[in-house]
Amino acid sequence: MSIVTESDPTSYSPFFDGSPQMRAIGTVIDNIADTDATVFIRGESGVGKDLVARAIHAASSRRRGAFVKVNCAAIPQGLLESELFGHEKGAFTGAHRRKLGQFECANRGTIYLDEIAELPLALQAKLLHVLQDFQFSRVGGHELLEVDTRVIAATNRDLEEAMARGEFREDLYYRLNVVEIKVPPLRERREEIPELASRFLARFNMQYGRQKQLMPETLARLTEYSWLGNVRELENVIRRLVVLADGEQAIEALVTRGRNGHNGHNGNNGNNGNNGNNGRNGHSSVPRLTFAEGGLREVGRRGAREAERKALLEVLERVSWNRAEAARILKVSYKTLLTKISDCGLTPPLRR
Ligand SMILES: Nc1ncnc2c1ncn2[C@@H]1O[C@H](COP(=O)(O)OP(=O)(O)O)[C@@H](O)[C@H]1O
Ligand SMILES: [Mg+2]
Repeated sequence: MSIVTESDPTSYSPFFDGSPQMRAIGTVIDNIADTDATVFIRGESGVGKDLVARAIHAASSRRRGAFVKVNCAAIPQGLLESELFGHEKGAFTGAHRRKLGQFECANRGTIYLDEIAELPLALQAKLLHVLQDFQFSRVGGHELLEVDTRVIAATNRDLEEAMARGEFREDLYYRLNVVEIKVPPLRERREEIPELASRFLARFNMQYGRQKQLMPETLARLTEYSWLGNVRELENVIRRLVVLADGEQAIEALVTRGRNGHNGHNGNNGNNGNNGNNGRNGHSSVPRLTFAEGGLREVGRRGAREAERKALLEVLERVSWNRAEAARILKVSYKTLLTKISDCGLTPPLRR
């Protein structure tokens, strides 16, 4: 199945035909698109959940309506209710005018609630009610509004665990989970890698006016690699290959690190400055510590710094250095993130 979505001009045909798992997902999409069933998409970051959601919308009779994406992790929790359901003038300090919520904007279309696990409990309760009768009030309002929208939710988190910890409502989970689509990680559908790689290659060659090619050995290596960042990581690696003069070597280095027990994320771009172990040599990236100065406290500090640096880099690579998104995922302010990036001496692999 191949669909070009209408609402996003930068989109291109997703490839849902390269493995039995994705073909099965394509069949589910075809079967449920025209029902109004709520869909719950699960899978690691970068596997293609957004594409699946857009494909459902594009295949449904709602395709002429809006596809509205709300990333529940991207919006500060205090603003989420108003973002989703809108507010009346004067509902809170700063509410100078009435504002429509995303549910209203998605009327006759589809609302895609990404990273649903980040929804605070109070809002989970409100969402549950909305899913029951599609009625709600704006923040600070009494009027009951009714919307006609299809709800698709997604998460990369283990919701069963979140439920066990009391962080996610079980009744909401069952409400959302009418149709569940689990998008497997790329390493479980490696047969798609050559085709995905060649599509990305063609796209980036066109975009950057290059004629790069993939050597068969490079392709073989890409097919073996672990792809913890899934299709998004593959896309970024191919982009690098196209743009960098020594792209093939960069891939070689990445894959070699991946095999030597690293997580495959390039930890060597920046100058990490502090303890002299930047994970080169393919050894474990546990920091080598010296006890000479500072004692145990300093050991703790260095360990924490290194752990922070690793998390930072991993998230930044996964989101293609989209700092705003990284800040949200890491639950720090944008400003803190920038400070940390600079403290850790991290630099983007490539300025685009
Ligand atoms: N089957 C696919 N065909 C083409 N591109 C894909 C496919 N799956 C994922 N991608 C690309 O990989 C990136 C990550 O996909 P996305 O849907 O945003 O993942 P998720 O929402 O699961 O994090 C996007 O740039 C997307 O276009
Ligand atoms: Mg997504």
